[in-house]
Amino acid sequence: MGKSKILVLGATGYIGKYIAKASARLGHPTFVVVRPDTTAVPNSARKVLLDSFTAAGITILHGDLGDHESILAALKQVDVVISTISITLIADQLKLIDAIKEVGHIKRFLPSEFGVDVERTTDLPALQAIFKPKAKIRTALRESGIPYTFINANNFAAYYLPTLLQEGLEAPPRDKITILGDGNAKAIYVDEDDIATITIKSVDDPRTLNKQLVIRPPTNVLSFNELIEIWEEKIGHKLEKSYVPESTLRKQLDELPFPNFIYPAVLYSIFVAGDEYFELGPEDAQAIELYPDFEYKTVSSLLDKFV
Ligand SMILES: NC(=O)c1ccc[n+]([C@@H]2O[C@H](COP(=O)([O-])OP(=O)(O)OC[C@H]3O[C@@H](n4cnc5c(N)ncnc54)[C@H](OP(=O)(O)O)[C@@H]3O)[C@@H](O)[C@H]2O)c1
Repeated sequence: MGKSKILVLGATGYIGKYIAKASARLGHPTFVVVRPDTTAVPNSARKVLLDSFTAAGITILHGDLGDHESILAALKQVDVVISTISITLIADQLKLIDAIKEVGHIKRFLPSEFGVDVERTTDLPALQAIFKPKAKIRTALRESGIPYTFINANNFAAYYLPTLLQEGLEAPPRDKITILGDGNAKAIYVDEDDIATITIKSVDDPRTLNKQLVIRPPTNVLSFNELIEIWEEKIGHKLEKSYVPESTLRKQLDELPFPNFIYPAVLYSIFVAGDEYFELGPEDAQAIELYPDFEYKTVSSLLDKFV
């Protein structure tokens, strides 16, 4: 059996470009749907990105999630669909589910997840407001009978490691650091290329069918305090630490209006509530068990470039 033909919807976005390129690199005939007119990246960067797709052998199709015919035309060319559309468009994937049902032959759909398990986060109104659309897509998919895999990618490493969560910095701090809560909650960091490679490995794997694939490399499961220790060791001295109490963070979440609470709520969930480090259940498959030979970039090696 040949490798599945993969369609990536959202390939010009942050994680989508890694996934489209990994798909081509791992030998899958790869297609991307891009909007002819887009504001996601400035024109020059967009051209460079699309040229790099073409050079990688990726077929570029024009379309829009809101244009049913363009989505149907794209679906007819592929076996597997990976959506990496932005958090603000999650609910619109119901249209994609309808289109997948209509064509009838898609053998796996990976909706835009790539973060925490949205069905296991702390029960706070701000968090529920953010994650409800993803949870609704999960329910719709389970009810649809479309084969699926949810990717539990945890923290995109390059989102958090370059600044260690310190606003306004471009490299990790060398003098002082602010810690959310007590810094003891475990969080998980995964390099974007590693997320993309594991995602593509999963699409033809029967062991990930109708499962959540949990990407949790043991070396990269760290509390914020442990992360700081790794950085302190690299720079050869201790940082001055200050802590924002959990009660202050929760009060902020209650007071901030939508959409301003989104980022603080996500930080609270990951770094204070410890929502990423849940106990695995029967619906979870672990990437480290399925692909034991895969070598993940470690947090320590990813921090080296900032020393
Ligand atoms: N774990 C983490 O640390 C983390 C961090 C960030 C995000 N995430 C998750 O990762 C997923 C992807 O987020 P992202 O930040 O990578 O996305 P993003 O950069 O916002 O990219 C959005 C993509 O959606 C496409 N798009 C927008 N409107 C469209 C439409 N109407 N039809 C078709 N395509 C459309 C855009 O295409 P155009 O170029 O045509 O506009 C772009 O390619 C989300 O589920 C998000 O929650 C996780």
